[in-house]
Amino acid sequence: MNVQATTQTPADHGLTQAPSIRGERLLKRLKDLGQVGALDNGGVCRLALSDADRAGRDLVVQWMKSLGMTVAVDRIGNIIATRAGRQNLAPVMTGSHIDTVRSGGLYDGNLGVLAGLEVVKTLNDAGIQTERPIQVAVFTNEEGARFAPDMLGSLVFQGDLPLEEALAAVAIDGAVLGDELQRIGYAGDTACGATRPHAFVELHIEQGPVLEHKGIDIGAVTGVQGICWIEFQLEGVSNHAGTTPMSMRKDTMAVMADIAHHVRGMTQRLGGNQVGTIGHCQLYPNLINVIPSKLTFTVDIRNTEKAVLDAAEQEVLAYAQSSAEREGVTLRWKSLARFDPVAFNPAMIDRVERNAKARGCSVIRMPSGAGHDAGIIAAMCPTSMIFVPSVKGLSHNPGELTHPHDLTAGANILLDTVLQLARA
Ligand code: GLV
Ligand code: MN
Ligand code: MN
Repeated sequence: MNVQATTQTPADHGLTQAPSIRGERLLKRLKDLGQVGALDNGGVCRLALSDADRAGRDLVVQWMKSLGMTVAVDRIGNIIATRAGRQNLAPVMTGSHIDTVRSGGLYDGNLGVLAGLEVVKTLNDAGIQTERPIQVAVFTNEEGARFAPDMLGSLVFQGDLPLEEALAAVAIDGAVLGDELQRIGYAGDTACGATRPHAFVELHIEQGPVLEHKGIDIGAVTGVQGICWIEFQLEGVSNHAGTTPMSMRKDTMAVMADIAHHVRGMTQRLGGNQVGTIGHCQLYPNLINVIPSKLTFTVDIRNTEKAVLDAAEQEVLAYAQSSAEREGVTLRWKSLARFDPVAFNPAMIDRVERNAKARGCSVIRMPSGAGHDAGIIAAMCPTSMIFVPSVKGLSHNPGELTHPHDLTAGANILLDTVLQLARA
């Protein structure tokens, strides 16, 4: 990053002295929140609506209140903190999530929430009032690692997923989402999506290698690629590993391995942005000398092109069926999540790009490979995202890291973007 150029006056503030966030304060909050659910390997586990998620939420709510924000919790457990504006207009919203995958890092989601609080702290300290209210949201179960679908809280907020359906979601550990919300004290009473934001902007780590590889400071995110999650359940016959001839087996693991191999080959054949992952599998009885009779596994496929993703989904379903039939295994499947690719608002993308340049940062336009709440909120209001580089492109990994100067740059661009929108 060009450090000298960061002292330029950010675009459009209309202020004689442009405010800037304090990077060390943001980093301290990231580290403090990272202590909640901390793992021995430096990572974090705060699966949605777990005890650790509750403790993380409590800490963030305490910070929100200390900033003088009004905190509301809606019926799906989204936490929405408001800094009042001069006028009772639609708010400018920022935020993200604080739930993590089981082997998560300090930055995924947490950066977007805590940078939102840093923006508010900066405005408070500078005595800047805005016309519009500013909101910082913490969305429930963005990861989808414990409950499907992912982005569940923002989906209910936006209106595409009925509240009752979301409350009935069953976790990978068998818990019911509505019960877990009650248990951790975050079954709020505010109507979901009661206030439609004027605009939404989310700061997030890139979670991939592109920015670091190209030596670029900031990604102005153009949209989010489509996501298809399928769960397969296979049922065969348990039998002795030593005595059962290969031709007489109904082996669920053999079917899963065949499908996994096909998915890998399909991604290579389709090329481009096509990705495919088998990330979860549970088998029964899970013993060295028994052919597994039951096996559940998931397939995650994503593409920026809707038509290619649709075709890939159909191909996986058809291949899975034929593979199970060849082995004499019963196959059932269900869709856990299905999102079409999303394109962000062009004026919002331009604004992020402009603000990055005004802060002296190099910037490229890029799509997001990961799912984000912004991809859901984009259906409600003009939306965009700011990406900062991930060291070695690592994410959903305890080694997730973004350098402090990149965190600071991203948060300053968030500040400028939120401030411009809230003054309008
Ligand atoms: C969420 O992090 C996802 O993209 O899976
Ligand atoms: Mn995230
Ligand atoms: Mn994530």
